[in-house]
Amino acid sequence: MTTVVDRWDIHPVHAWLRGVRPEKPVGFDEQMGLWGVYGYPEALEMLNDPKTFSSRTAHLAPITYDESLSEGDMSQMDPPEHTKYRKLLSHGFTPKVVADLEPRIAEITGELLDGITGKDRFDLVAELAYPLPVIVIAELLGVPSSDRHLFKQWAFNIIEELNGMAYLSGGEEAQASVDAANDSVKPMLDYLLEHVLERRRRPREDLLTQLSAAEVDGQRLTDNEIVNIANILLVTGHITTTMLLGNTMLCLDSYPDQARRVREDRSLVPTAIEESLRLLTPSAAMSRSTTRDVEVGGVTIPKDKMILIWLGAANRDPHQFIAPAEFDPARDPNPHLGFGRGVHFCIGAPLARLEGRIALNGLFDRFAELRTDPEDAPAFFPSPDMIGVRALPLRAR
Ligand code: HEM
Repeated sequence: MTTVVDRWDIHPVHAWLRGVRPEKPVGFDEQMGLWGVYGYPEALEMLNDPKTFSSRTAHLAPITYDESLSEGDMSQMDPPEHTKYRKLLSHGFTPKVVADLEPRIAEITGELLDGITGKDRFDLVAELAYPLPVIVIAELLGVPSSDRHLFKQWAFNIIEELNGMAYLSGGEEAQASVDAANDSVKPMLDYLLEHVLERRRRPREDLLTQLSAAEVDGQRLTDNEIVNIANILLVTGHITTTMLLGNTMLCLDSYPDQARRVREDRSLVPTAIEESLRLLTPSAAMSRSTTRDVEVGGVTIPKDKMILIWLGAANRDPHQFIAPAEFDPARDPNPHLGFGRGVHFCIGAPLARLEGRIALNGLFDRFAELRTDPEDAPAFFPSPDMIGVRALPLRAR
């Protein structure tokens, strides 16, 4: 049977997406000039040991970054600093808080689906998978969701400018692409700053207002920190969920028997979403740096080395998952690493799961059949650390 990966030729560069395991679970990647981690136990060990495997990696990058862009970015911090910044947001995204958003998410989903119900063909990304998560995160933050075309343009520009992960190889071209990405992000930061300043003047019931009043060690966050936090939430809060929704549809499309099973037994929707995260992991790689010489997976990685933990490869490790290349929507347990693990475990996981569940049920309710369009193939994000569609034309008949 043709797998979803072969059918759409997803990232030919990744042999591990095609069932070919690297010789060793941890190894030096000559081409990328950094250490790669592909095994599940090794990835888990690293994610659970932030003292040895630090999230601060900018100092090892072969190019220079504008450091002001990472102020307040918890994803690049280690404990104890990380713990303090994460606390500012964690109460806003607990399963309980997120569950209360269900009626609003269902309403937005319903409105978006109204726009395509009855159509023979539509692009799932443009009509639902993109707008749904971006409207939700914009409303939570308190920025007008009607500006979402701007967020899309900015986010996609950054992804394009970064030109895959080529910047990791260093050199003038890499530096130029990172500088261009930084330039692309500036209008978005200016836009967010305007909203932060407005909240300082006129507080409202939203996340930007909460961040404006928040303190770390008795100090208010700076405008720049709030802008960066908002930027991260806005970008990571929607692109990844867009990919999750698109990928789940792709999986169901490639495995019609399993799709029928999920349609007929909706209690399988949540597990189908988890399985999609495992099989087509949207955020496929996480970077870390070593703080000491460390032995892992039978090799010694020296201190101050850059590592890419390939969550996508770990999620297909046959030592951990039975029949890892198969899409089994009832897989349980399914301890995939699609949302990471340990102190940096994705803060938005409950939200992404809820959006996925509502969107998938909504699609099943409105369309008796949905399949990919043989005349109009899906388009994928080119970056090798992202597995997901940016356009997914579907046929309803
Ligand atoms: C399917 C959708 C999503 C996927 C696949 C995903 C994936 C991930 C992963 C793998 C990490 C771990 C990063 C690391 O270990 O370095 C992470 C962290 C994070 N995610 Fe998500 N994410 C998703 C949705 C969201 C949403 C909806 C939000 C915002 C509401 C969000 C906000 C964050 C933040 C702020 C972090 C950093 C947490 C920390 O460093 O403590 N994510 N995400």
